[in-house]
Amino acid sequence: MKALAARRHHRAAPVVLLLLALLVTGGLYAVLAPSPATAETASTATDVEEGKRLFQANCATCHGPNAEGSPEAPSLVGVGAASVDFQVSTGRMPMQMTGPQAAEKPPQMDPEQTAQLAAYVASLGAGPAIPTDEQVDAALGDSANGALLFRTNCAMCHNAVGAGGALSEGKWAPPLYDVSERNIYQAMLTGPQSMPVFNDANLNPEEKRDIITYLVEQREGSAGGLSLGSLGPVSEGLWAWVVGLGLMIGAAVWIGAKSS
Ligand code: HEC
Ligand code: HEC
Repeated sequence: MKALAARRHHRAAPVVLLLLALLVTGGLYAVLAPSPATAETASTATDVEEGKRLFQANCATCHGPNAEGSPEAPSLVGVGAASVDFQVSTGRMPMQMTGPQAAEKPPQMDPEQTAQLAAYVASLGAGPAIPTDEQVDAALGDSANGALLFRTNCAMCHNAVGAGGALSEGKWAPPLYDVSERNIYQAMLTGPQSMPVFNDANLNPEEKRDIITYLVEQREGSAGGLSLGSLGPVSEGLWAWVVGLGLMIGAAVWIGAKSS
């Protein structure tokens, strides 16, 4: 103690004290700080390793051993985790048959394997990441604005309420009633096959969420009784013709029968 007290006026004392203080705060922070929230979602090196193995077993025949692409299938370098998550969780990939459009089927990979494949492809080059839960939370969006945006950007292919429709050359825009919120966001972000990409300059993240809110609202059934297939004037007109004209003809026949 005496030796320490004697050195207290030494020129280096403030520096030593400062270093000690830093060490103590650093140590305390490391012990007490909450673990980062991203720890669960961040992909680890083992995810990438495992994803690579899955890729080589299930995808490499078409996309090439290093996802560099082949005459049959495009390169996946830089398509990002969002594209892989969309394609694999909707069962489009691994594709089984070539046709006008990779069809949806029951997913072949479980959520963990899907995440591993996404981590592997994301490790090959930067691309759109999987959206967060908050970005796709339908409860946070504005459905009136979503309806407007949907009508200008999506309705020409998917119908005004997302019922889907046929496109040229045997392709089709699927109905959007059973698609998960995350997959809706990812479809806009990555533009699968003949669908255009809606990047953040076309539709910013809030606008994408408004569209999700609008689409989720359409699932809760139409407020005005029978939806008549939600085909608008076409099915409404058909009903007016069949039922309305039918009644009128019936009445004319009845009146005619009475007078003779
Ligand atoms: C039978 C061949 C085949 C197999 C197997 C296959 N794919 Fe594909 N994949 C394709 C074709 C063809 C396309 C392009 C579809 C199109 O755009 O018309 C494609 C597109 C993709 C895309 C979209 C790329 C983009 O531009 O956004 C992703 C992601 C993808 N595949 C991932 C996978 C993964 C992951 C697997 C393995 C689980 C897999 N694929 C297995 C043929 C295949
Ligand atoms: C040019 C026509 C076109 C436009 C415009 C378009 N889509 Fe699509 N969309 C498609 C096609 C085609 C597919 C099917 C792609 C596939 O199977 O890979 C699709 C697929 C989707 C899917 C995936 C459906 C599923 O069953 O997994 C969603 C979600 C979607 N579109 C939402 C939208 C939204 C939201 C917009 C507007 C911001 C939009 N689309 C604009 C043509 C279009």
